[in-house]
Amino acid sequence: MSTQKLEGKVAVITGGNSGIGRAAAIELAKQGAAVAIGARREDEGNAVVEEIRAQGGKAIFVKTDVTDASQVEALVAAAVSEFGGLDIAFNNAGIEGAALAPMMDETEDNARRVLEVNYFGLWHSMRAEIPELQKRGGGVIINTTSVAGLRGFPAFSSYVSSKFAVEGLSRSVAQEVAPLGIRVNTIAPGPIETPLLDRATGGDASGFTQLVPLQRAGTPEEVAALVTFLASPEATYVTATSLRVDGGMMA
Ligand SMILES: NC(=O)c1ccc[n+]([C@@H]2O[C@H](COP(=O)([O-])OP(=O)(O)OC[C@H]3O[C@@H](n4cnc5c(N)ncnc54)[C@H](OP(=O)(O)O)[C@@H]3O)[C@@H](O)[C@H]2O)c1
Repeated sequence: MSTQKLEGKVAVITGGNSGIGRAAAIELAKQGAAVAIGARREDEGNAVVEEIRAQGGKAIFVKTDVTDASQVEALVAAAVSEFGGLDIAFNNAGIEGAALAPMMDETEDNARRVLEVNYFGLWHSMRAEIPELQKRGGGVIINTTSVAGLRGFPAFSSYVSSKFAVEGLSRSVAQEVAPLGIRVNTIAPGPIETPLLDRATGGDASGFTQLVPLQRAGTPEEVAALVTFLASPEATYVTATSLRVDGGMMA
């Protein structure tokens, strides 16, 4: 008997070629899901696909910029044509934006770019995914926010604002699509060892990790475990909420 939690399921993962998304793609595939990975960098995307296939899993990479609705639609369409439908969407693509700066020193271009990727990218994603989830009689959406979607951080205002916006979007849409059998939740990671954290902190994350009771950054795999739980039949009564995976940071 299979012990895979997601056997026969199909997942789309944006930002699946790096960090948290990469770990989630590998774990969802290990649990039996066929995964369609969308992001911009092809070499990194194809490398994750090869890793999953080498472990006996099913995966494709579709070069996708989430700020372009038509590219997100093409990603979802590719998942459906390759694997037969869609059951799980992990909307995780995100950027930290240009070097951290107080709001008064930030450029408008940077503020708009962060919202374009982190908020509108996810908005495009859910609009492409929901009709396909509906065709299957329901499904699961998991959106990546952050502890920065739950409190403010100085010199981080656009990123924080984008994540608060995703929290609001997710909780509202969750209520709209619950009657369709679609669950929508966010995950709010604390500092996680990824290229984004390195870029955002110049390689020294101690300013964040000193706020963490567990006294360390988390790993992408520790976040992927929560994504897998939310995607699984173990979480059928969990919707419209935000689950922290932050080492206790927001306690
Ligand atoms: N690491 C942390 O401490 C932390 C904490 C809380 C929340 N988060 C959130 O976790 C998510 C994943 O970040 P990460 O830490 O794993 O960082 P990461 O390794 O830099 O991954 C970011 C991913 O987003 C993709 N991406 C960026 N812009 C995109 C675009 N326009 N279209 C499509 N894909 C795009 C990147 O791929 P391409 O560049 O190839 O497109 C990459 O796969 C983000 O939403 C981030 O805000 C991270």
